[in-house]
Amino acid sequence: MAMKHETNVPPVHATSYDAADRARLADEAAQIVARYPDPRSALLPILHLVQSEDGYVSPRGVAFAADILDLTPAQVSAVATFYTQYKRHPNGTYTVGVCVTALCAVMGGDAIWDEIAEYLGIGDGETTADGLITLERLECNAACDYAPVVMANWEFFDNATPQSAVALVDDLRAGKAVPTRGADSVATFKEVSHVLAGFPDGRGDEGGEPGAPTLQGIALAKQKRWTAPALPDEGARRRTRTSSQEESR
Ligand code: FES
Repeated sequence: MAMKHETNVPPVHATSYDAADRARLADEAAQIVARYPDPRSALLPILHLVQSEDGYVSPRGVAFAADILDLTPAQVSAVATFYTQYKRHPNGTYTVGVCVTALCAVMGGDAIWDEIAEYLGIGDGETTADGLITLERLECNAACDYAPVVMANWEFFDNATPQSAVALVDDLRAGKAVPTRGADSVATFKEVSHVLAGFPDGRGDEGGEPGAPTLQGIALAKQKRWTAPALPDEGARRRTRTSSQEESR
């Protein structure tokens, strides 16, 4: 089913939020701040909140975070520029990342990157002219068991190929609800940012159990009867835990 796209084209260079938007954001920011003993500890989720509104850490978002947390804009910017999940330019509706770390690379990640970058006509960190796709080279996503992997807004697409990656961006741009390894469809960058700010979207139960490649290690350990050596003072607790686990089966 096709979805109507909202692209992340912000009110360019807006220096502040209008009164209604600011009140709404301030209410959510207060909920975030209340989770921490020290307000400034809420900076990371509040930056996600800003991205959920503007599609990036905008100048007005920096000013908002600084005001809410009694920080300087320079302090907020220093944090926002440190982490790659915070975007300093309007991000696409979908961040499509190709893992190019060693295992994915040799399994085809490099070829996927070359194909998708040429197909979209953009490079690392760049966004298509329609504002829908931001392309990124990713370091290991701890999903090597399904290498090579592609991600869209941090949802996995396993055992990818150049052809499947092109089909993925075509489907996302067409507004199709693309099923992922986990979620039933890819949420937008703004929607995901709102979840990362600490507001669940009710979709946490989507997705199935871990697949066979993920469980291969534990299956092999059981088959070979491999166990980790107990720590000297851990033995009793480990035996107790194991027997209670056995009883609950
Ligand atoms: S190397 Fe790509 S997920 Fe680990």
